[in-house]
Amino acid sequence: MTVKKKKNVLVAPSLLSADFGRLCDEIIAVKEAGADIIHLDIMDGHFVPNITIGPGVVSSLRGCTDLPFDCHLMIADPDRFIKAFADAGADMISVHVETAVHLHRSLALIHEQGVKAGAVLNPATPIETLRHVVDDLDYVLIMSVNPGFGGQNFIASSLEKVRDLKAFLARRKADILIEIDGGIGPGNAGDAVEAGADILVAGSAIFHSAAYRDVIAAMRTGNGGK
Ligand code: DX5
Ligand code: ZN
Repeated sequence: MTVKKKKNVLVAPSLLSADFGRLCDEIIAVKEAGADIIHLDIMDGHFVPNITIGPGVVSSLRGCTDLPFDCHLMIADPDRFIKAFADAGADMISVHVETAVHLHRSLALIHEQGVKAGAVLNPATPIETLRHVVDDLDYVLIMSVNPGFGGQNFIASSLEKVRDLKAFLARRKADILIEIDGGIGPGNAGDAVEAGADILVAGSAIFHSAAYRDVIAAMRTGNGGK
């Protein structure tokens, strides 16, 4: 019998559902609970109908942990702020394909700051938009909800999209991580990993639970039931 080795999945709690009055404590708590990455949702009230935090808050939080900061920019004209988020301590910065008019330039700007570069696809945005920037990417973020809010229902067709992206990248022999964000929790984490996701973002599933550690562990093992 051959035993298939389980892939090492990375869990990235999204601070969007954390207590904003205690962000540093929340970061420390998820680290102790086994988180790998801190996911920060940056919203401008323009590209998405919500406003969150800017580089100043990210910079203030940088001293709370040594975990990587993954800044998901949901802002119009993201090039204006890439340097500010890099200076604030981002280790990963992703821009939405729908906002980055010059996507290649945005990815180059991120790399110039010594930061990992990601492209984000909204649920209705096709994978083919990445065809000519594959070599410029460290990761791709598949949105499994429409961006703007935590606590929304997972869009089921996102699993097929992750599978397609996995095959698309494999054909190009591209060693690029796949991140999935929106409506993820113990109940569907296993399916997302099976489809090809390497990084699982979860906000409400973790921060609205009583035991962060149990949720993160269940997401990692895919033992969440349905
Ligand atoms: C949505 C954000 C997500 C969100 C996920 O625009 O990008 O990171 O916080 O929250 P949940 O896990 O609650 O769907
Ligand atoms: Zn996000």
